[in-house]
Amino acid sequence: MVRRIAILTSGGDAPGMNAALRVCIRAGLHYGKEMYVIYDGYRGLVEGNIHQVNKEFTQDIINRGGTIIRSARLPEFKNPEVVQKAADILKDFEIDALIGIGGDGTYKGLESLSKHGVKVCGIPGTIDNDVGSTDETIGFATALNTICECVDKLKDTSGSHQRCSLIEVMGRDCGDLAMHAALAEGAEDVICVEHPLKEEKLFSKLRKMKAQNKSHAIIIVSENLLNINELAEKISKETGFEARTEVLGRLQRGGEPCAHDRILSSRLSAEAVRLVIEEEGSHVVGMKNNTVVSYDITEAVKMKHEHTHGLRALIDMLQ
Ligand code: F6P
Repeated sequence: MVRRIAILTSGGDAPGMNAALRVCIRAGLHYGKEMYVIYDGYRGLVEGNIHQVNKEFTQDIINRGGTIIRSARLPEFKNPEVVQKAADILKDFEIDALIGIGGDGTYKGLESLSKHGVKVCGIPGTIDNDVGSTDETIGFATALNTICECVDKLKDTSGSHQRCSLIEVMGRDCGDLAMHAALAEGAEDVICVEHPLKEEKLFSKLRKMKAQNKSHAIIIVSENLLNINELAEKISKETGFEARTEVLGRLQRGGEPCAHDRILSSRLSAEAVRLVIEEEGSHVVGMKNNTVVSYDITEAVKMKHEHTHGLRALIDMLQ
């Protein structure tokens, strides 16, 4: 029987992680379980930074950005000896189940722990929206809203100066943030894995816009693909538009979670707690067609995120 449940957050933080933590703790207490938090992700786990919490711990955190139990990246967690140490520590603390909130790296860590006999459940929390076992991840909607707020502001100043703004957004290898932002902002172009740069097409479009005296042009670029400063220089040289670059960076990970992320966190977390208490084996939870679903964790880590190719066609049609 599961008596003690611990929760950690790992990888890049995402708005809504605290809302998820809140529901995990409250749901666990509702089922009569002893609830623990682990500070600093897997690093804290290996160091035994594990503390029992009560309902008061969850007060006024539903709307807080970041993660109050902090996060970390621990590449050493790929090492089976480190995983074994983590499993031993959980045993020492008599923790019967571990819930991890994070992205695919977090899931891989959880899966390794499950192979060392730990009962686990993963909750998808990352702004990247790149987890295969869910349609949406906690933090994506808020990060997208943040990007849109920034782009709206940039449009004002770009328009005042008749400039072309290149805006780099996060997403690691996934273009979801870029594509959704481009659609939401009516951007002139989006450059991401799913929608690669077509230089000549872009330049000729910008030249045409310049000739029509358009006030500004917005181009959303996914990170890790190209050097936006070099592209901006080329645009300035080739199109007549003066180009400027902005890297939104970790601004995209901060801020209060939007209502959608708070609700998503709550629905997923309640199911994660139920699963570790009532079901055998180790799972992840996710959202498919607006329904909460769960998968065996080993199956889940093999699932590939379905990229938003439908959006690509729509963006192309609107350009
Ligand atoms: O996974 C979330 C994310 O924000 C990615 O979009 C980005 O590539 C990465 O984390 C940056 O991580 P860090 O803050 O550790 O440099």
